[in-house]
Amino acid sequence: MQEALNMKKVGFAVVGIGNIGKRHLAVLEKEKHAEIVALCDKDKHIAEEYGRKYNVPYFFSYQKMLKKIDCDIVNICTPHYFHAPMTIAASNAKKHILVEKPMALTSRDCQRMIAAANKNNVKLMVVKQNRYNVPIALAKKVLEQGKLGKIFMVEVNVFWNRNDAYYSSSPWRGRKQMEGGSLYTQVSHFIDLLIWFFGDIKKAKTVIDTKNHDITIEDCGSSIVTFTRGVLGVINWTTCVYRTNYEGSITIIGENGTIKIGGQYLNTIDYWDVASFPLPKDIQYNDRPNTYGQYQGSSSNHDKVMNDVIVAISGKKSTVVDGSEGLKTVRAIELMYRNTKH
Ligand SMILES: NC(=O)c1ccc[n+]([C@@H]2O[C@H](COP(=O)([O-])OP(=O)(O)OC[C@H]3O[C@@H](n4cnc5c(N)ncnc54)[C@H](O)[C@@H]3O)[C@@H](O)[C@H]2O)c1
Repeated sequence: MQEALNMKKVGFAVVGIGNIGKRHLAVLEKEKHAEIVALCDKDKHIAEEYGRKYNVPYFFSYQKMLKKIDCDIVNICTPHYFHAPMTIAASNAKKHILVEKPMALTSRDCQRMIAAANKNNVKLMVVKQNRYNVPIALAKKVLEQGKLGKIFMVEVNVFWNRNDAYYSSSPWRGRKQMEGGSLYTQVSHFIDLLIWFFGDIKKAKTVIDTKNHDITIEDCGSSIVTFTRGVLGVINWTTCVYRTNYEGSITIIGENGTIKIGGQYLNTIDYWDVASFPLPKDIQYNDRPNTYGQYQGSSSNHDKVMNDVIVAISGKKSTVVDGSEGLKTVRAIELMYRNTKH
């Protein structure tokens, strides 16, 4: 890709140097077409430590960074509730944006973000790195080719461990106003993929509960959903699994085939029986998890996202997820939480 692009390096500024911001920096450092031009964290120690590490100007104030720095794009890696205001501010400063998932906490905010990007003629892109997982890309291919025939049902299980240290290590985690709920954090990866496969969620019946953490959001939930293409879905999630992540899976039941993508984070194919598309023998399962010390997150394909972002900025056709697609997940989450009592 880099040879083919023939362009000057894209200048990235990163805001929020927490678990995922550090991963963005590590990926950008290795990406030949990227240059880290600045970073920002409201925690002065973190900003200084990483500013020194990458030898770039560092800021404690986001507004100040936007004013002072000449970058092409801002990567927004702060907690969910900052995604909308920080995206809008970057748009108004004429910077492209790569915002972490979830795009925002409300569909209204997503629409404001899209409007700001359009008004300022900048690109708004959302991190959805699981789309690049080897098993997911293969499932998407057979679905697009219609190999499974009519799809009847899909089941998703997000059975993960997030311990007390996870919730207490950052002030926004587990707090309704700032995090919204586990659907925004852990499950949004899966909801994006389901919508990508089967269309928008148009109906949902959900039950949620908090069983094992001192938090104001749910740590267990189950939702029965219907997609626009008629598929019936069951989505189960918890962050209460003992000790470690147990499973992150999607099982698709079709007229001409059955697929279970599993492992802990959609990294293996646990079952594949597709009438006219046998599982390729040479498949390489090379997706790795993001590892953050006290817990393991979703897949670490941020390098592929960054590649696609650079392609998009160069004006070429890219598969990176844009604001309108990011909005679909947030809209589905709002629908799933509607009428839940907690
Ligand atoms: N794509 C993925 O797999 C993935 C994985 C982890 C996190 N995320 C997303 O990234 C975001 C951050 O998550 P995290 O786990 O890295 O959180 P974190 O709490 O570890 O880090 C957040 C960082 O943002 C900084 N910050 C907070 N408010 C700020 C402000 N106003 N200005 C500047 N800095 C500020 C904090 O000091 C902290 O260093 C969340 O939205 C989360 O959903 C995505």
